[in-house]
Amino acid sequence: MAEIEHIVILTGAGISAESGIDTFRSAGGLWEQHKVEDVATPEGFARDPDLVLGFYDMRREALAKVEPNDAHRALARLEAEFSGELLLVTQNVDDLHERGGSNDVLHMHGELKSALCLACEVRTSWDAPMLNRPPCPVCQSPSLRPDVVWFGEMPYQMERIYAALSDCDLFVSIGTSGAVYPAAGFVQEARAAGAGTLELNLEPSEGSHFFAEARHGPAGQLVPEWVGEVLG
Ligand code: OAD
Repeated sequence: MAEIEHIVILTGAGISAESGIDTFRSAGGLWEQHKVEDVATPEGFARDPDLVLGFYDMRREALAKVEPNDAHRALARLEAEFSGELLLVTQNVDDLHERGGSNDVLHMHGELKSALCLACEVRTSWDAPMLNRPPCPVCQSPSLRPDVVWFGEMPYQMERIYAALSDCDLFVSIGTSGAVYPAAGFVQEARAAGAGTLELNLEPSEGSHFFAEARHGPAGQLVPEWVGEVLG
């Protein structure tokens, strides 16, 4: 493998699947159990806030019952031991990268364990239900919503992500279907910058053909193997 100095990694629900968190688009996945427009749009929240707050309360509570897996831990090892630059971007709202040992994780779709106050716009780390309308710890207004990015909203820190993509020599996509933009377009950004591109996914994603290399299998196996190769 040629010398790699700057890696950008994108992870999706597939990296947390072996920890027991449902992916979105698999048979029986979250988007078969719930309508996207009801629970993951600003309009759905305006229509039925109780339904939406309850949905994210349930997902936040479920985090307490799962543990990071070998794929999360391998990326933490990469962060600790890789001598070059690394940006780990996740579409996941779970905290399994952090609990697996990663210190620097960019949550482009927000986090279950964060609250956004609609009154004062301050974000607070949060590990309790929201359905009972608790007051914002900063302004006391009972106006908290989950700090997650819904369809129709702008993902977080896009400038930082695009800057890293334009400057990386390897882009790796792990456990994501490639169905949701802008994340699904990162591979083409990286290619345009001349980077190598690698997909690690259970099966070919929708954008699999954009990658120079694709390996298919469970993340818990593929990710530690790949990290071992990078670290030599
Ligand atoms: P998806 O559910 O769309 O895709 C998960 C991918 O992971 C699929 O391609 C699976 O084949 C793969 N997969 C499943 N198990 C795996 C395993 N053990 N190892 C490796 N891969 C595995 O989830 P995402 O691509 O993350 O956005 O979805 C992207 C966005 O769509 C989410 O962030 C969410 C959702 O709507 C918002 O809510 C804004």
